[in-house]
Order: sequence, then C-alpha cells, then structure tokens
Amino acid sequence: MQDRPLSELTPDQLAAEALAALEATADSQALEGWHIAYLGRKGRVTQLIRRVGELPREERPAFGQRANQIREELEAAYDRQAQHLRSLEMEKALAEGALDVTLPGRPVARGRLHPSTQILRRIAAIWADMGFQVYRSRDVETDEYNFQLLNFPPHHPAREMQDSFYTTQEGVLLRTHTSPGQIHAMRDYCPQPIRVILPGMCYRYEQITARSEIQFHQVEGLAVGRNIRFTDLKGTLTDFAQRMFGAGRKTRFRASYFPFTEPSAEMDVECILCNGRGCRLCKYTGWLEILGCGMVHPVVLQNGGYDPSVFSGYAFGMGPERVIMLRHSIEDIRYFWGNDLRFLEQF
Ligand code: PHE
Repeated sequence: MQDRPLSELTPDQLAAEALAALEATADSQALEGWHIAYLGRKGRVTQLIRRVGELPREERPAFGQRANQIREELEAAYDRQAQHLRSLEMEKALAEGALDVTLPGRPVARGRLHPSTQILRRIAAIWADMGFQVYRSRDVETDEYNFQLLNFPPHHPAREMQDSFYTTQEGVLLRTHTSPGQIHAMRDYCPQPIRVILPGMCYRYEQITARSEIQFHQVEGLAVGRNIRFTDLKGTLTDFAQRMFGAGRKTRFRASYFPFTEPSAEMDVECILCNGRGCRLCKYTGWLEILGCGMVHPVVLQNGGYDPSVFSGYAFGMGPERVIMLRHSIEDIRYFWGNDLRFLEQF
C-alpha cells in the first residue's frame, strides 16, 4: 500500500491511498496496523505534514491546511471503520455462539434406589398404614440377644460357627436375623403395647449360592398387647399379603417351629405367576412361602419385661429380597449385592 514515495504525492493522493487501505482492513488488528502506518508518529500522513518545511514559503499555508484537514478526515474515517468492524465481530461471535433451543436435550444418567430399598419402603408404607412404626435395631449383636433371650436352646445348631459371623470379641456377632430387635423393642416400650416393624440387614456365614447369600434383609414385625390372639396375626398378615400382592390373593398358614414363637407358622401366598395353577416358580405347588410367624413365646415376653399372664403378642419375619425375586422371577440372589448396573438399572 505504501508503494509510491511520499515526495511524489499530493495530500489528496495520499488521502485517497489511505482511504482505500482503510476500507481493506478486515479486523481490528489490521485496523490498528493501518492507524500506525498512516496516522502514527512515523506514519505517512504525519511525515507528509512534516514535509511542509521543504516547500517554497508561499505554498506552505495551503499545503499545511490541507494536510491537517486530511488528517482529521482520516481520523474520523478511522473511527467509523472501527465501529463497523466492532459490529461485524459482534455479529460473528453471536452467530458462532448461537444456541439452538429446539435441539433435543441429552439425557442425564441418573442413579436410582436399589431394588431392596424400594421394596423395603413399600413394605414399610403398608405396615405404617396399619399403624406399625419402624424400630431400628443394631446390626452387631450379642449372643445373648441374638439367641439366648429368644429362647434358643443352649446347643441349637444356629449358634454354630458355620452359621454366624462372630467378631473377635467373645460373644459378639453380626445378627443372623432381625428377631433380637424384638427384645430391644420390648425392653424400650415395656409396659406399653407395641406395634413395630424392624427392617434391617442380617448376616449368615454360609456358602454363597443362587439361593443363599451371606447378607440379606429381613423385615421383622412385632405386636404386643393385652388381648392379641392368633386370629389377629392371621388377619393382619392376610391383609398385608393382599396389599402387597394384590386384592383377593389367597394365603395359607402351615404349622412350623421357631424357638421364640409358640405356636409358630409359615405363611404362603397363592403363586403370583400362575395364580395357583402350578408352575416352575412355585414348583407346581401353587403356593409361595413368604414369611415365618407365630405368637410370641411366653419366655420371650418375659425376657422383654412383659408379664405373659397379662400380655400376649405376635411376631413375623419376611425376606424382602425373596419377595422381589418372586415378583420379578429373579433366579439368583447374588445379583443383589453384585453391583452390576445391568441388573440394578432394571428397577
Ligand atoms: N427370625 C426368623 C428367621 O430368621 C423369622 C421369624 C421372625 C419367625 C419372627 C417367627 C417370628 O427365619
């Protein structure tokens, strides 16, 4: 752009050259370069003005006036171009950063509640509806609470090392069932009537197979009062089964044995897959075993602080993982603690 030497140019020719160069600037960096080249301290216009001294005296005023005028015009043109470029750059930035609000969003991967937590909450909600509070009991128990106070005979096989996780401290173990919570609840509430459920994790020292895990949940239930009979147990559990597995779902009670209940029973529900006709899930019996239950043994009531000649009660214990397995035809209990997202994501 600065091809012709200054000595050959009139102020107007230089002005024309400068304006053409100004129009060619495409960004603010080029624009600054232009300002230095023409209007800077060593710029061409500045130099032209300085040349006034070399001219014959009578030409100087007109030349100087015109040169100054040109400098002012170019400064004004520079300001206009600067503004123009700024708005171009702004438009470009807006276009590049444009946000298309009509694009569909990317799904956010969200965690969810573990299937056991979901079923525990459902079970707790049903019992809450029937007036049962949640009573939290400890995971680490003493032999006394886990067995002795629950009327386990001294050499009961459940005490053996194969079945329990003992700690390094003598007589302290991980609870093998939630039933020791019955004693804690009774000792806390005595002599008030009780209606509680006791959910929690249980631990058994066993070979892990598709059917048995070393850890699993139980939901224990306990009702103690002055006039509680076996019919109350049957009616309440039947009501629970209908709320849990659907209205009209049949139940049956079979005689059983637990050291801490007398009489004891197990409750079956009509198979939820075949509705009692017989299938692989119910092993062609038409029934699924759901829980153990019974009337609280007088010795256990006494251990809890209640006089068995005045008070009576019932208790039950169910395995929520087993309920989920039945509801969803899950064949292997190891999925529950395997932390495999492909399993967990299905709930
Ligand atoms: N604790 C028993 C078990 O682990 C279940 C049960 C609870 C039975 C309460 C009767 C009453 O199998």
